[in-house]
Amino acid sequence: MNANTDIDNIDRPRTVAHIHKGQATSDGAGVRLVRMLGTAQLPDLDPFLMLDAFGSDKPGDYIAGFPDHPHRGFETVTYMLDGRMRHRDNHGHEGLLGPGSVQWMSAGRGIVHSEMPEQLEGLMRGFQLWLNLPARDKMSAPRYQEYAAEQIPVFAPSAGVRVKVIAGRLGDIVGVIEQPATDPVYLDAALDAGAEIALPVPPGHSAFVHVYEGAAQVHGTRVAASELAVLNDGDGVRVTGGDTVTRLLLIAGRPLREPVARHGPFVMNTQAELVQAFNDYRAGRF
Ligand code: FE2
Repeated sequence: MNANTDIDNIDRPRTVAHIHKGQATSDGAGVRLVRMLGTAQLPDLDPFLMLDAFGSDKPGDYIAGFPDHPHRGFETVTYMLDGRMRHRDNHGHEGLLGPGSVQWMSAGRGIVHSEMPEQLEGLMRGFQLWLNLPARDKMSAPRYQEYAAEQIPVFAPSAGVRVKVIAGRLGDIVGVIEQPATDPVYLDAALDAGAEIALPVPPGHSAFVHVYEGAAQVHGTRVAASELAVLNDGDGVRVTGGDTVTRLLLIAGRPLREPVARHGPFVMNTQAELVQAFNDYRAGRF
């Protein structure tokens, strides 16, 4: 593995197009979170529909969890940093998400599931990303890709740089998630003070950086903690850590360029398909 290969291969570094602060809100049965994407200011970024960041050591902020609710037509990606969350669905699938684990769920034609904290105290921290499916996959069978922390490969090209490769490719390291429709990149990078890395991102993909600890320079533009920087096109991004340890997500995906009809937990292409989704859910056909 030669880290410089990646760095040298970036001919058109992506610059920051705009920076967004999240919007504090609550969801589920009253889980406090910060919506980074899916807000009035940044409604979506094709193929991405939403990014929620949750993080609190106050049980009252998370203990109510997300009781039974449906999804159809897209994918939910839950990435835990701290704490434990149990999920159960109406197809008999159940699992426990621990620190550093990822669950990439393709809801397809429909599931009803719950996502509940498996702890009564302590820190609960992580992210949920909503990623659209193309029309041809919206009514496919539900599918899960689940990986524990130790199954996710780490790219550590130099001292002070550590990147968990959940999806996408860094040099010889290939992420664990496969999703050919949107060819996603999902990286969790930790940079010591002043450390630098160049991360390849396929040209044409929508891409953003979300800093969640410290502050980064993204091709010379400062992005602070709890900010999301949408990137212009290019073949990669150069990131430099700030004065302390910086932790950030780099997320990218191929745009679908299809009409989006969206209401709550249903994301389809047309209004008629949304009505069908409601009817199917109410009739117990999920
Ligand atoms: Fe859900």
